[in-house]
Amino acid sequence: MPTLFDPISFGSIKAASRIVMAPLTRARAGKDAVPTPLMAEYYGQRASAGLIISEAVGISRQGLGWAYATGIWNDEQVKGWKAVTDVVHEKGGKIVCQLWHMGRMVHSSVTGEQPVAPSPSTAPGHIHTYEGKASYEEARALRLDEIPGVVESYVKAARNAMKAGFDGVQIHSANGYLLDEFLRDGTNHRADAYGGSVENRLRLLREVTEAVIGEVGAEHVGVRFSPNGEVQGTVDSNPEAVFIPAAKMLNDLGVAWLELREASPASTYGVATEQPKLSPEIRKVFTRPLVLNQEYTRDEALKAVAEGRADAISFGRLYISNPDLVRRLKDDLPFQEDDMETRYGPIGAKGYTDYPFAR
Ligand SMILES: Cc1cc2nc3c(=O)[nH]c(=O)nc-3n(C[C@H](O)[C@H](O)[C@H](O)COP(=O)(O)O)c2cc1C
Repeated sequence: MPTLFDPISFGSIKAASRIVMAPLTRARAGKDAVPTPLMAEYYGQRASAGLIISEAVGISRQGLGWAYATGIWNDEQVKGWKAVTDVVHEKGGKIVCQLWHMGRMVHSSVTGEQPVAPSPSTAPGHIHTYEGKASYEEARALRLDEIPGVVESYVKAARNAMKAGFDGVQIHSANGYLLDEFLRDGTNHRADAYGGSVENRLRLLREVTEAVIGEVGAEHVGVRFSPNGEVQGTVDSNPEAVFIPAAKMLNDLGVAWLELREASPASTYGVATEQPKLSPEIRKVFTRPLVLNQEYTRDEALKAVAEGRADAISFGRLYISNPDLVRRLKDDLPFQEDDMETRYGPIGAKGYTDYPFAR
């Protein structure tokens, strides 16, 4: 069995180790959703990761409702991201772009329109807008004739990501955002070809994945799921029945790698209502690299890879506060704690690019 520190290929990406930086929204851009030079510095500091998954990046104005997050639907944004990927590549790293349509988890003060979802619903909790925190608003159901346009915005974003120099893309189908809302019966009550049976609920993910593969090639495409329990108000009555066929479908489509965020009721971030249990089953049907996430310590990460439960491990919060995480894991050095107050912008370098490297 390989170790956490051995190289691995995620499709065409040759990663130097199985240590992956999980996607982390940090909201350090401007209102134009264009990446800034500070972001290039931040990602450059973390280039020793085997693979960096970028923060979630909006595929369209409709799909990006988080204040000060970035997008990849126009040329300015592509240019901003190119500066980021250049720095990562100069330092020998690899980086993919997480493609994000937030579905009902947006605010109209940011997107300029009512949120969209599979069916009318309102997410619980609060969102970051330019005016501060706000309650979620009721989403309307996407019309059947609007769905091809949504698929096309994923394709355009994937094309733009490759233009911006990313090594590939990750389709964000986790955490209660649009694609996850379509997968699960708690948020998908449609009576048309995109709702009801599991096959129908998988349809949008299938169409998006096929179209993105058609644009950039399967060797450049990964996907993220968060299969267990409720996440941001999105839940399924029988997750096994959805996520195992979904993983099998991605395998059949040729998707190069799959990442699972498995929170638990005891999680210290984004608690899920059920214990993780699907990854062993998903591993049987998804034969390419499987990346596991959430709450991994050094020992647990080493063990999961050594025992063959995962091919790689992605680290979220540890990457906020330990830019040199690979070295700290290798040499068993202590980790720095991340400061919760500075996780999200708009606050510039503080808690972003100022976490020191180990000496
Ligand atoms: C500040 C912050 C921002 C996050 N942003 C994203 C994101 O943009 N996309 C995503 O899929 N997950 C996001 N997550 C979830 C992380 O990728 C990861 O699943 C989570 O931190 C659990 O892993 P950990 O226990 O290693 O921190 C975010 C988490 C945090 C703490």
